[in-house]
Amino acid sequence: MLKPQFEMSPSALIDPAFRADVLAGFASRPRAIPARWFYDRAGSELFEAITALPEYYPTRTEARILDTAGPAIAAAVGAGRAVVEFGSGSSAKTPLLLRAIAPAAYVPIDISGDFLRQSAGQLARAFPGLPVHPIEADFMHPIALPDAVAGLPKLGFFPGSTIGNMIPATSTDLLRAMRMSLSTGAMLLIGMDRIKPADVLIPAYDDAQGVTAAFNLNLLARINRELAGTIPVTAFRHRAIWNDMRARIEMHLEAVRDVSFEIEGQAFAMAAGETIHTENSHKYGPRDARILLRAGGWTPIAEWTDPAAHFAVILAEAQAPRTAP
Ligand code: AVI
Repeated sequence: MLKPQFEMSPSALIDPAFRADVLAGFASRPRAIPARWFYDRAGSELFEAITALPEYYPTRTEARILDTAGPAIAAAVGAGRAVVEFGSGSSAKTPLLLRAIAPAAYVPIDISGDFLRQSAGQLARAFPGLPVHPIEADFMHPIALPDAVAGLPKLGFFPGSTIGNMIPATSTDLLRAMRMSLSTGAMLLIGMDRIKPADVLIPAYDDAQGVTAAFNLNLLARINRELAGTIPVTAFRHRAIWNDMRARIEMHLEAVRDVSFEIEGQAFAMAAGETIHTENSHKYGPRDARILLRAGGWTPIAEWTDPAAHFAVILAEAQAPRTAP
């Protein structure tokens, strides 16, 4: 999951990157704010609640795949690897993998230090004897791994279809950065959500209890809290749309009436029906997923899905750097 740079309190300094993204996002057409800003404390809690919703199939489907395919994954990756988890968050699925493959070390990477230390501590207690080396960093860039794992073969772990929250240009950049961080001989185990009928996808992003709506609308509340905003939150509604041409769910916030408000002293106005684009969640056909991985420098070698083929867990190995086709 994408995580905030740091948690804010009303008295804390304003995060300049949040301020810049929000002001630029409201000024641009179409209006758009990067999804990474969902995850303040309230947003992270709402996301955890989303993962337990009956309509939100990805989390439990991926967990079931990891559980069922554990022995096959272990056979394919072998023992003694350092597992490097990108955006470890709450590390909820990690025990399933660690239990299956007998790793030599675990390196969780997350931008949210508090969250990272808490979940790394829990993991270390659950797996006594397993060296755990947390790294507080933005995994979107190549990362220097600790010397303690330098001699070990690596297994990158990127569950949750978080890759789907990036447009293709960004996701290939990220896959390449991961290959650089993990170096030659590495493998990558990645969760990728599949394209499926819109009547399954839309409710997963627009649930009956309104938790996803609250998650989306919390972004406006966060802007009001942290950027002296006066946005009338109740004048907006959550929209989840399937964009078939781009194979993605899009989340938007739509003004239900004409509104005007200020953010950090700057005035903005939106007419009824205008939207702010807040998230993309790309879905992949089996071949789309493999092409994306190859474009990012990884050769897919095995794949596991659930019986309905709603979600895929793909194992890939790092391509050797090459200059010819
Ligand atoms: C974190 N990410 C993979 C979630 C997704 O499914 O794209 C975020 C999310 N947005 C709404 N519901 C879940």
